[in-house]
Amino acid sequence: MVAVDQKELAALKEAVRTHLSEHRYEHCLRVSDYAVKLAKQNGLDEKQAAVAGLVHDYAKERTAAEFLAKIDEKHLPTSLKKWGNPIWHGVVGAEFVHDELKIDDPAILEAIRLHTTGAGHHDMTTLDKVVFMADYLETGRHFPGVEEARRITDESLNQGVFYQLAHTLSYLAGKEHVIYPKTFDAYNDWAEYLSK
Ligand SMILES: [Fe+2]
Ligand SMILES: [Fe+2]
Repeated sequence: MVAVDQKELAALKEAVRTHLSEHRYEHCLRVSDYAVKLAKQNGLDEKQAAVAGLVHDYAKERTAAEFLAKIDEKHLPTSLKKWGNPIWHGVVGAEFVHDELKIDDPAILEAIRLHTTGAGHHDMTTLDKVVFMADYLETGRHFPGVEEARRITDESLNQGVFYQLAHTLSYLAGKEHVIYPKTFDAYNDWAEYLSK
């Protein structure tokens, strides 16, 4: 699956488009483009990055019932059930990508799983980081600080990951939202790693 050609990519785009609203499909195209840019900068297979970026939100618009059924079907930890779409569409979404789009590249599936939560520095491959950052920085994003985040990420993918984790945690805490424990762990791990 790594070596997808243009024809396969076009077919994949069509499959993604039929499962998403127009605005989210456009987001996926931009994430794919940004992932290719980051892949070039970081010596990564561009096609793998293009595919992972394209399909990262494939399951984002599924219902809660569909996610819960998939958790059962795939025997994923039942503790996942208490979370919602923001976590499910990555962690469980990878299963939809595997089953429906027939993508079986474990590296792509893992990048999809991690794109909503991040992970510790030992647990993120370059592809995981590229998709995580492309989702955050794609050209349709206009949050305060996005230019700084893009500049930091151009200089260092690792520093970009840490920037995103720090700002996402601070945003969620500011809104008094519940924070997924793995995201906390990821933040602590990166803080320790990058301070050395
Ligand atoms: Fe997402
Ligand atoms: Fe996304």
